[in-house]
Amino acid sequence: MYRDTPHAIHLKDYQPPEFLIDRVELHFDLDPDRTSVESRLELRRNPAATRGDGSLRLHGEQLELETVEIDGNPLTGSEYVLDPESLTLHRVPDRFSLLTRVRIHPSLNTALEGLYQSGDMLCTQCEAEGFRRITYFLDRPDVMARYTTTLVADRARFPVLLSNGNLIEECRLEDGRHLARWEDPFPKPSYLFALIAGDLRAIEDRFTTASGRAVDLKIFVEPHNLDKCDHAMRSLKKAMRWDEERFGREYDLDVFMIVAVSHFNMGAMENKGLNVFNDKYVLARPDTATDADFDGIESVIAHEYFHNWTGNRITCRDWFQLSLKEGFTVYRDQEFSADVGSRGVKRIADVRLLRAHQFAEDAGPMAHPVRPDSYIEINNFYTATVYQKGAEVVRMQANLLGPDAFRQATDLYFERHDGQAVTTEDFVRCMEDASGRDLSQFRRWYAQAGTPELTMQGDYDPAAGVYRLSVRQFTPPTPGQPEKRPFHVPLAIGLLGDDGEDLPLRLEGDSQAPAAGTRVLELKAEEETFRFVGLDSRPVPSLLRGFPAPVKLRFDYGDRDLLFLMAHDSDGFNRWDAAQTLMQRLLLALVRDPDHGVLDAFFDAFREALLDAEGDRALLAEVLTLPSEGYLADQMDLVDVDGIHRARAGLERAIGGRLRADLLAVYRANAAEGCGYVFTPEEVGRRAIRNLALHYLMQSPDDETLGLCREQFAAGDNMTDVMAALRLLADHGGAEGAEALECFYRRWSRESLVVDKWFAVQASSPREDALEQVQRLLSHPDFSLRNPNRVRSLVGVFSVANQVRFHAADGGGYRFLADRILELDPLNPQIASRLLKSMIRWRRFDRTRQALMCDELRRILDAEELSKDVYEVASKALE
Ligand code: ARG
Ligand code: ZN
Repeated sequence: MYRDTPHAIHLKDYQPPEFLIDRVELHFDLDPDRTSVESRLELRRNPAATRGDGSLRLHGEQLELETVEIDGNPLTGSEYVLDPESLTLHRVPDRFSLLTRVRIHPSLNTALEGLYQSGDMLCTQCEAEGFRRITYFLDRPDVMARYTTTLVADRARFPVLLSNGNLIEECRLEDGRHLARWEDPFPKPSYLFALIAGDLRAIEDRFTTASGRAVDLKIFVEPHNLDKCDHAMRSLKKAMRWDEERFGREYDLDVFMIVAVSHFNMGAMENKGLNVFNDKYVLARPDTATDADFDGIESVIAHEYFHNWTGNRITCRDWFQLSLKEGFTVYRDQEFSADVGSRGVKRIADVRLLRAHQFAEDAGPMAHPVRPDSYIEINNFYTATVYQKGAEVVRMQANLLGPDAFRQATDLYFERHDGQAVTTEDFVRCMEDASGRDLSQFRRWYAQAGTPELTMQGDYDPAAGVYRLSVRQFTPPTPGQPEKRPFHVPLAIGLLGDDGEDLPLRLEGDSQAPAAGTRVLELKAEEETFRFVGLDSRPVPSLLRGFPAPVKLRFDYGDRDLLFLMAHDSDGFNRWDAAQTLMQRLLLALVRDPDHGVLDAFFDAFREALLDAEGDRALLAEVLTLPSEGYLADQMDLVDVDGIHRARAGLERAIGGRLRADLLAVYRANAAEGCGYVFTPEEVGRRAIRNLALHYLMQSPDDETLGLCREQFAAGDNMTDVMAALRLLADHGGAEGAEALECFYRRWSRESLVVDKWFAVQASSPREDALEQVQRLLSHPDFSLRNPNRVRSLVGVFSVANQVRFHAADGGGYRFLADRILELDPLNPQIASRLLKSMIRWRRFDRTRQALMCDELRRILDAEELSKDVYEVASKALE
């Protein structure tokens, strides 16, 4: 049990800082076992501070304090108070210089927050509150200072020494040591501080900004990874150009650096001028990385780069405002990926993710608004809600304003708030001021949690030629918010005529008929009815085109209407959505009744889509992929774990059998043309549809399809095809599967990111012995609880992407997960807490499983010592 119950921090308690820091000079004597950090701060009382007793309380954790001096005078132990989280100085002048010296131990830092060792290098991660593990400081984002950082280290072990800003001095010292001094001209909050020391190599390039300034671009990696940086560099240059063109944002330093690190809690970090990345989002070669990896790199490189304006130049006032930078930056990276890739496919992928993770989060015990009201541990709030729903909230504003006004509004935001630490309220006010629109009701999207449910009903009056669409919104209660007020929801709607063409949407009272196509209506009341006039026959409504708002839709479509939309809707997203709804319906019927049967019309529609020669292949692959088991579970009041698995696997087998000839034809027609791997939307789409065809074929394999699979595994010059085949062989099992896994491991055992894939394939296998296999892999020499990517690939994948085995009725999966969380919590609370999230929605399951999950949650809460991170999630889950 956590001895004193950790207390929550509330947004309503925000107070401006009592002191400001203008300048920071840091001096690091780097050594993995024992690093000394000397800090000189220029402090002054904040004229805007509202209260305080005059004392200065600095954050600091796990620091060994050696010296404190004010204006050159050492303080004695009676002149300050130290506790495990802070250093308090009583009676300080209004303006003074503070020197502290502390010792820290990077090699013992397994939490990977602050300064830590990863392999042979030293690196930092300071967001959100890691800087306080490096030195005593006002570690809060509304304290922005100019930094000069001096790094001293052994020259042979750490030939490369990096920090934020520009390099201003470099020299050799005696005893084989050397020094590098970096200066960052831009004031920044402490969470954007970074340093790197290591034996690294870089690929270099150059970018000339729109106004003609030359920027050196460098990507640093360990020497053996130098051949895996080209895609990241290309992505970076594309992102830099795009931000100039789309948002008018130029880069502002002479150098931009990226470093790939193999031990990293999150995806990457936008430190000023020195982005530090999980190497998964940098390293790619066609034979080591899949199309999904290439995609991920392109968007994460862009995301972190975009933060330079949305996050760094303009930062957050406090951590409740996290979505100010994350929601906006995700919106920006999504738009970037849509522009450089295929917009339709990108939208589908983003909505899939939102529905799978954010909707689930919003319906569970950790549900919180985009701008949370309180937290115990801020690291628990780097969530799908803050990131993905936050991006949707920005997208809704962009769509309500339209492209021109939205651009004016973002220009205004960048101009008005450059150099400041601000709030989501400041962002919305810029939207209003630039456009003249009133967004007062819209602001509820930041404050109210929960996914609104829109129930729509349509009826057609042939005599009057009127189609009435009534819309009712309801948002279920979430923790701490029993009642919700109505949201301001943009609705993008179309009406299809008998021929499948868009009709003009003329509302009663319109003076003239609008052109045919999509019309954006705005729902503000709890209930509203829209009357469309001038319609000669009953239209088929295409609702929520392009997914204009993060809501759930209830509309009683007939199967024939869905098939019609799937075939004709001018909106690609809604064609996909109609197909998903159809499949979901069919699957849920099969869950309820295994003998339900599948109509020929379903296979016909599937075949027709599959053979559509003109269609965008990537889009097609999305249309023809069944909803995941997890998503199906979210559609049930009481999850039937085994029923869902049986139904989905059964339907896949039926598709594979019934459409065998067509699938084989598609597989053959989409063979690579021998020019080697290229990462273009067309080629990615071709591989996607081909591997999907093989997937269906392998659900009822015969000698021929097994042969194809084996061939693809052996021949594949690219990891996308090799992984697809490996997964199918491994799930097929037998000597064949074991041999493929064995051969893959032998080939790639030295490429850590590929070994992660090898673990993940086994962890996600629906085979009945999956848990035993995962247990065995725990003692594999390559498994380590200290590498987050490895933990995610085995334990994370098993608990998130293997519903049927993780939720096995005997509780083995739950016990396994709880054991790992208890082992991991003392080492790395952030990762432990993330893993726990797959067990907190226990209320949706049957009694037996509920009891089993609760037992494990209680066992975790009973542990001797528990991090705030895990305590918060486990206690909220049981509330
Ligand atoms: N700001 C980083 C990003 O680009 C994420 C940092 C997450 N840090 C954390 N402690 N959870 O999204
Ligand atoms: Zn971010």
